[in-house]
Amino acid sequence: MAKLAVLALLALLGSVACQTGGYGYGGGSPTPPITYPQPSYGGPPAAGGLRVGYYDYKCPGAEYVVRKVVGYKDAGVKAGLVRLFFHDCFVQGCDASVLLDPTPANAEPEKVGIPNLTLRGFEVIDEAKAALEARCPGVVSCADIVAFAGRDASYFHSGRAIDFDVPAGRYDGRVSHKNETIPNLPPPFADVDRLKQMFAAKGLDTVDMVALSGAHSIGRSQCSSFADRVPPPSGATTSGSDMDADLAASLRRQCTTPSDTVAQDAVTPDALDNQYYKNVMSRQVLFRSDAALTTAADTMGLVRASAYFPGWWNAKFAEAMVKMGAVAVKTAANGEIRKQCRFTNY
Ligand code: HEM
Repeated sequence: MAKLAVLALLALLGSVACQTGGYGYGGGSPTPPITYPQPSYGGPPAAGGLRVGYYDYKCPGAEYVVRKVVGYKDAGVKAGLVRLFFHDCFVQGCDASVLLDPTPANAEPEKVGIPNLTLRGFEVIDEAKAALEARCPGVVSCADIVAFAGRDASYFHSGRAIDFDVPAGRYDGRVSHKNETIPNLPPPFADVDRLKQMFAAKGLDTVDMVALSGAHSIGRSQCSSFADRVPPPSGATTSGSDMDADLAASLRRQCTTPSDTVAQDAVTPDALDNQYYKNVMSRQVLFRSDAALTTAADTMGLVRASAYFPGWWNAKFAEAMVKMGAVAVKTAANGEIRKQCRFTNY
């Protein structure tokens, strides 16, 4: 019954034409610093033999070990772990390729790609992996640890409201290239069509895309990531940007250098909750990609539904995380179980 009511509301909201159309910045649209070609890797989710409880017999307590390690970390690192899972899955699939360090054999892995330079949480994965290797050597993949850690960080950040099972059995990849990051990870200046397209390239639909964007209710961003939306104070106004004027003024005060960081959600910065959608509606979000969710009728309908029905969004976020976790997973045929998450075995 409740589901029917939500569906009816969604249909209604979806039919509401949205009012914004494009982004004018007074001096014209900002020029993206780099050209983004079409996504070239990933593809639709592979079942890949993933299974809930995969380690129940192979390494009992494995998931509990990860949850315990994640639980002790501060809020910022936990936010980093949610993002790490996303960045892992969107490049080469969920295979821990994002964890590989530069080596003489591969000097430019994904980790040194521009979108990945501000990732955090790598040492949490190392800590969980060390504990699991001591318990059951060579059994638990780094890719599964990244997926469990992303789930556990969501669990803690949501005050335990978002709690879901993660199918496991991923193998670790051996391929990781810096130049595959930009084509596969959406940029903060993406418009709604590009966002839809880049998620669809991974087998994720618009509902998944909008639901996962709610992760921007936690964590921090460098000022450089939204500089196009907050013109410098010298004579500039926000009249050309759709950002709320108070937020823009506050960001200007906080951003003295491009590498300064600010909370993504100024209202409930450490809670993974539906505040993000309220912020989208009140134009209190950092990126063009966040604001872009108001520019299509279907995404706007989903934003409204998520803002009004927090429990519904919690469920959609969990579903989308599971779906994202199945993107192009590797098997024993094309992967391995790494001994150390930062290096391939050979
Ligand atoms: C929809 C397309 C998305 C774009 C364009 C985008 C872009 C960004 C950017 C530019 C930052 C700030 C990076 C920095 O300046 O340090 C960021 C932070 C973050 N993103 Fe996204 N993101 C997207 C989707 C997602 C998804 C799907 C998730 C997870 C499910 C996610 C989780 C996060 C988190 C948690 C942070 C804060 C990280 C921290 O505090 O270390 N994002 N995102």
